[in-house]
Amino acid sequence: MPDLDIREINDEDVDDVAALWERCGLTRPWNDPVSDITFARKSENTTLLVGRMDDEIVASAMVGHDGHRGTVYYVSVNPDIRGKGFGRSIMAAAEDWLRGRGAWKLNLLVRTENASVINFYEALGYEREERVNLAKWIDPSRKPENQD
Ligand SMILES: CC(C)(COP(=O)(O)OP(=O)(O)OC[C@H]1O[C@@H](n2cnc3c(N)ncnc32)[C@H](O)[C@@H]1OP(=O)(O)O)[C@@H](O)C(=O)NCCC(=O)NCCS
Repeated sequence: MPDLDIREINDEDVDDVAALWERCGLTRPWNDPVSDITFARKSENTTLLVGRMDDEIVASAMVGHDGHRGTVYYVSVNPDIRGKGFGRSIMAAAEDWLRGRGAWKLNLLVRTENASVINFYEALGYEREERVNLAKWIDPSRKPENQD
């Protein structure tokens, strides 16, 4: 199987990336993927990496830093080609992107209902840290009704 061709997102990629996230079960009713992509692309500290094979988008990751730590969201590989190292490749590209901008540590969140993916990150050298994640909807109008 050929390697992924990984580049930053183009305008014409947006719908395909959103469709990949849908297919990978990463979207939530309160996170419209297209508006998440648009918002991320407004920041020069964030980008969307897109992995192509035979001109088809098959992997992606949103990567960025907040001036202190790097992070990733929406790490995704087309379900038809999982287990072949493409998840590792898109994460390596995300780490390179961050390293190139001076970031030296990447923190990421895994939803409790998606705990099996922790094995993937551990295979890539990520370690669990004892932290509690706190969050607040600082724009309450965006808070979904079913979220406490
Ligand atoms: C997580 C995901 C990106 C992994 O992609 P992938 O292409 O299958 O991963 P790779 O083939 O590169 O696997 C890399 C390593 O992780 C391991 N791994 C991958 N998925 C695993 C799993 N579910 N359980 C255990 N190990 C796993 C592989 O065995 C491999 O280890 P090795 O290199 O030591 O053999 C893909 O399963 C996916 O898109 N999942 C749905 C979206 C998701 O949950 N994203 C993460 C949100 S936090």
